[in-house]
Amino acid sequence: MTLLVLCSVGAFATDPPTLTLRKNDQVIKILTISELLQIKNGSVSVTVDNPTDSKEHTYDGISLPVLLERFFGNTWETFDLVKFITVDGYQPVIPTKKIIAGSCVISTGEKGYPGFRKLKRKNGETIDPGPFYLVWENIRDKGIREDSWLSWPWQITGIELTGFPREFPRSAPPTLSGESVNEGFLAFRQHCIKCHTINGDGGHVGPELNYPVSVTEYWKEEWLIRFIEDPQSIRANSKMIPFYRDVKNRQTVISSIVTYLKAMKNKKRDDSTLMNTQDK
Ligand code: HEC
Repeated sequence: MTLLVLCSVGAFATDPPTLTLRKNDQVIKILTISELLQIKNGSVSVTVDNPTDSKEHTYDGISLPVLLERFFGNTWETFDLVKFITVDGYQPVIPTKKIIAGSCVISTGEKGYPGFRKLKRKNGETIDPGPFYLVWENIRDKGIREDSWLSWPWQITGIELTGFPREFPRSAPPTLSGESVNEGFLAFRQHCIKCHTINGDGGHVGPELNYPVSVTEYWKEEWLIRFIEDPQSIRANSKMIPFYRDVKNRQTVISSIVTYLKAMKNKKRDDSTLMNTQDK
């Protein structure tokens, strides 16, 4: 009996790590490290400034767009989001458009080392980022550092193509919304959702902005824009922070956020089961 248990534990420990690729819930492929490294024209080495220890590291791996194209075909670009499943349960999503625009690599190890060197966090904790680690080419493209959507998930075990409604059922834009609504939604999630809810989804520092009446139904658009730009120019004691001054294309981003808020007035949470099951 004891022997059996030991055997199975041993077998588990030596199983090579794998990366599971899914389209929504459907498993498309399970890859080992060596299978991943055999992908044609995909292998790369990138030198990055690692945000965890602020040191330069050179990582080997496969360009993420090449990997996705290889196993999902070019339809991967039509999904809204790419989700990363990790050992500790953290499941960040990154907008597909940002993966197309920036250069990122699924790394399988550090150049010149067997696997990864451990990363030392500022709090002294050390992390082994393997088996798979998403890294961004942030030395060549410095803009990558300023975009909080571009996370560096480590200990990845799966990658999933997914959509706004699946990940964010309450705050996702109405289906078939145009480009600027979708952009406004991504900007809202990046800059506003930590303080505000949309249909109950989000943070509670500021008020709900869509339900039962959307702010766009009782604020004139020009005042709404001015409030987002500089809240205290309208309410002397407003506790809301002005929209970040250093955001690129600040005016365009603000107007896309307002476009998103306007679109959401047609998607109120009127479904009572949604309210009961998802409200805290
Ligand atoms: C740090 C928290 C915080 C962030 C971030 C934040 N807000 Fe606010 N917001 C508030 C608070 C608190 C209020 C409540 C009223 C006040 O203090 O002026 C508010 C009020 C508002 C109102 C007025 C609602 C009403 O009917 O009175 C709007 C509209 C608004 N916020 C939109 C936004 C948008 C859009 C963003 C992102 C660009 C954003 N807020 C980011 C905290 C925040």
